[in-house]
Amino acid sequence: MATPHNTAERGDYAPVCLLPGDPLRARYIAENYLDGARQVNAVRNCLGYTGTYKGVPVSVQASGMGIPSLSIYVNELVRFYGVKRIIRPGSAGGVGRDVHIRDIVLAQGSSTDSNVAAGALGPQIHYAPLADFGLLDRAYHIACDRGLPVKVGDVFAADRFYNDDIDNGLLADYGVLAVEMESAGLYLLGARLGFEALSILSVSDMIVGEGEALTAEERASSLDDMIALSLETAIA
Ligand code: HPA
Repeated sequence: MATPHNTAERGDYAPVCLLPGDPLRARYIAENYLDGARQVNAVRNCLGYTGTYKGVPVSVQASGMGIPSLSIYVNELVRFYGVKRIIRPGSAGGVGRDVHIRDIVLAQGSSTDSNVAAGALGPQIHYAPLADFGLLDRAYHIACDRGLPVKVGDVFAADRFYNDDIDNGLLADYGVLAVEMESAGLYLLGARLGFEALSILSVSDMIVGEGEALTAEERASSLDDMIALSLETAIA
């Protein structure tokens, strides 16, 4: 086995990789957006594929949920397979006052209650994990050109999906737009390992505010907008 979590050979991943949490979303992206996609990994059903998008080699690998799982795949993609750019198309719960279901949130930075940054830098330093600015800038302009409902700002990478103790209104007071579970880990590793990182998040539910809900069709088209934006940004 090439790495503990991946049977692909060196060279099986493109330098550019999309990293959704959900393995079935990885398969959906490979089957519906990539040309000539071949499966390169299936260990633990964390599916990985490589193909081309508009002629550019692109991979898509599932990360699983949460920073610990994502960190495994990112470390192996970057250290062993030489991936240089990772874009996470993900879903998030909206908390910001002006955030609505179907919005696309570009995570400029990621606050977190995870210990991952303190573990890396020590308890005195409250590190601010940031997106790669070049990717962020490109994604923003592509989203605006496409007329997508895009917002840029801080997100909160939560260690717990089910958390009765957290004050989501307080997060909103401090400008947090949405809650998910991975971006702080992705951005911390981007800085440490020297790859470009960006999370492009579709607001799939509202945690604070109106109890807006999506029909299945709206959810699918919102995911497609996010995937297309991720791929266009990845190859730009
Ligand atoms: N919390 C954490 N992650 C999420 C959520 C949420 O409410 N919605 C989508 N991903």
